Order: sequence, then structure tokens, then C-alpha cells
Amino acid sequence: MKELKILAIGDIVGKAGRRVLGNKLQTIVERERIDFVIANGENSAGGLSMTPEITREIFSYGVNVITSGNHVWGNNDILQIIDSEPNLIRPANYPPDVPGKGYCLGNIKGTKICVINLMGRVMMNPMDCPFRKFDEIYKIVKDQADIIIVDFHAETTSEKQALGWYVDGRASAIFGTHTHVQTADERLLHHGTGYITDIGMTGSLDSVIGMLKERSIRFFLTQTRVKFEPADDNPWLNGIIFKINDSGKTVSMTRVQEKG
Ligand SMILES: [Fe+2]
Ligand SMILES: [Fe+2]
Repeated sequence: MKELKILAIGDIVGKAGRRVLGNKLQTIVERERIDFVIANGENSAGGLSMTPEITREIFSYGVNVITSGNHVWGNNDILQIIDSEPNLIRPANYPPDVPGKGYCLGNIKGTKICVINLMGRVMMNPMDCPFRKFDEIYKIVKDQADIIIVDFHAETTSEKQALGWYVDGRASAIFGTHTHVQTADERLLHHGTGYITDIGMTGSLDSVIGMLKERSIRFFLTQTRVKFEPADDNPWLNGIIFKINDSGKTVSMTRVQEKG
């Protein structure tokens, strides 16, 4: 049976995140025999945005598809490539006519893969329904893709679990991003979908979700406006590897926590 291994990497935060990605990705790909790499890049430029140059840098390390989230709009420069770069996606459930696209199609050794990016609505900006948006995209891609992977960029565990069960048997795997903290709940759902609430972050561990801890503490102490900046110390790469069979079902999952 032909099995493929897909590595999903959690939100890359700032320079420290890019550095650990550059230092570690090829080693992990060779050691684990990874066939395809997805990474969430929403925090890759300065912690709160993305740029064309940094997007190219991430691709150059061996990432096949870059997903994103609420911070994709943090720097207008990303608009230069958001429509033209085929392997950069943003949450699909933004209102109609927003620049960019919410899913993309690719090919791994003859197997067709679709990566879908969705965003939650609980404790986040109001979005179109991610559940119905999945249905809409699934209808379009189900006959074109052997493997469907979902990055669900969301805050709450409940919304993430609910979407997991909702796509069980239709998506090959669904992983959460956005909280920057890896959860230990990876599991196979009843109809062959691999699920994890959050795959964590790629950036400085000695921080508050990737940003300078002193600034974050000051913010919580004073409740005033604070300029957040990415931290640099002790970077780690967080993610998960899904092993997927030729029926498009996940057979096993291994979380990744790699020190930079
Ligand atoms: Fe993030
Ligand atoms: Fe986010």
C-alpha cells in the first residue's frame, strides 16, 4: 500500500521561527521521509504579518503550501502576491471578493492533494460559516483530490473539535492553528480523519505565544497599548506528521517538537 507522509508546521513567528524552519526542516524531511510540507505563515513577518519576500523565503526551505489566518492582512505588501502565488492560501470563509483563495490543489508523486484553510468565529472576527464553507469546497474538490487536508485557524477547542467531527470521513486530516500552543489530543476520528486541536508554534519558546514576554506581561499589568515584538530566544519547531493511506485516510499521527 502506498502511504504518504504529510508534515504540518504550526504558525511561524518572526525571525526566530524562520531560522528554526531553515535549520531543521530538511533534516526532519529526510529523517521522517516526508512527502509534502504545509506551514502556517501568518506570523512570519515581524510576528503579526506576512510579506512576499518572507513568503518566498519559507518556500525556499522546502515548504509546499503556506496557509495563514487573521494576520495575513497585517502588511499590505502581501496583496502583491496573494492572488498570483498558487500555493499561498488564506482562510476560505472570508466574505466573497476578498483577495486571495481559500484552498489549493497539488500533486505528490501522482496523488492529488487539496489543502483548505478555514477560520473560526468564536472569540475571533466575524466570518462566514466555516462548516458550510467546507461543504461548498468539498463539493468542488472531492472528485479532483485523493487527499484533503484542513488547517482550521481558530481560538476555541470546542469549535475545533466540532469541525473535526463535521469533516470526519471527508477530510483526510484536520489540524488546528492560531493558539500557538500544541495540544496532546491527536487522534483518529471514527471515519478515518486525523485530528489535532492545535499543532503549536514555530518560534521562540521563551516568550508569550512567540512575542517578547516582558511586553506581554506589561500589557496584562497595565491594560494599555503595548508594541508587541517577536522574541528570539530558544526557538522550536512544532507540528505534526500525518501518515495517509491510498484511500485518503489517516493511519497514524506523530507530533513534532524540534529544538532549533
Ligand atoms: Fe498565529
Ligand atoms: Fe492567528
